[in-house]
Amino acid sequence: MARSLSDAIGPSRADTLLGTAAPAALHPLTLRPYRMRLMADTRSPIVFPHRHLLGIEALSAPDILHLLDMAEEAVALSRQVEKKRSILRGRTQINLFFENSTRTQASFEIAGKRLGADVMNMSVANSSVKKGETLIDTAVTLNAMRPDIIIVRHQESGAVDLLSRKVDCSVVNAGDGSHEHPTQALLDALTIRRNKGRIEGLTVAICGDVAHSRVARSNMLLLARLGARVRVVAPSTLLPAGVDRLGVEVHRNMRDGLRDADIVMMLRLQLERMSGAFVPSLREYARFYGLDEEKLAYAKPDALVMHPGPMNRGVEIDTAVADGPRSLITEQVEMGVAVRMAVLEALAQNLPN
Ligand code: NCD
Repeated sequence: MARSLSDAIGPSRADTLLGTAAPAALHPLTLRPYRMRLMADTRSPIVFPHRHLLGIEALSAPDILHLLDMAEEAVALSRQVEKKRSILRGRTQINLFFENSTRTQASFEIAGKRLGADVMNMSVANSSVKKGETLIDTAVTLNAMRPDIIIVRHQESGAVDLLSRKVDCSVVNAGDGSHEHPTQALLDALTIRRNKGRIEGLTVAICGDVAHSRVARSNMLLLARLGARVRVVAPSTLLPAGVDRLGVEVHRNMRDGLRDADIVMMLRLQLERMSGAFVPSLREYARFYGLDEEKLAYAKPDALVMHPGPMNRGVEIDTAVADGPRSLITEQVEMGVAVRMAVLEALAQNLPN
């Protein structure tokens, strides 16, 4: 069986990908290594220099572009009938989810299985954590079972970083509190690049509950690193402290925030992370900050709409927009699997044999 995604797709894919069917989207900076790899049908000479993926913060622009290019190959592979590869054969992947999740956990599970790993799902509902075991005890116990990769989601910011220091395997952050959600930002970037052809120079408006959103934080870091112009749009109560220092433009109303935007990224109102009254009422919030056709008209005529899901329909986004022709929401889900395959493959290249 083929060992890497490049091997799997083979040189014949190069024609398709480099001909008229080439993803319009390839950033000029990334086109060259991507072409070279496909045409030469060899492994990338660029090594992903990280043992874990804990956040976007630790990634350089070339690291990010490398993952996006690998993910392009995973998209092609995932659209074939035969999707199964053996890059992770013999490897054990544990999905350790302390917080409820449907799409992210399923996405990591499919990604791991597609690459041949043995995937074990462990959710907090049936774990000893309910019996009082600490995060560290759980980490040490799982580590003794000799997994190769652990995917962790936890409700506390910093918990995944802490866990990564207690285990011998690679750790991927699948969302920690309101800190980071790196694979979401990577899949968003891949979706944007495929639809707009680039990221550099685009205006991206991230709207809604920025204060509680790890998706917003990872996206702000990634998009800024790749040269996009990033705006956040929210009422003052939903902006994080020190937002002015994050190097983004801050707007408190949708009309100004969406003006001339290329991408409108909506965020879920994170009701479970709110301990006080952050918005007067959901109806009021929807009226001023919910994305409907009328507010979308403030953005560029070809602006596209994104949402990480799950959506509160009728609150931060109207159904007509979410399911409309300018919505990329379903494509984001497809790109999620591809990006996670790329991350798993990149980390697997650094695992001891
Ligand atoms: C996001 C998350 O969990 O941070 N969702 C996801 O990854 N599917 C966004 C959210 O919960 O609103």
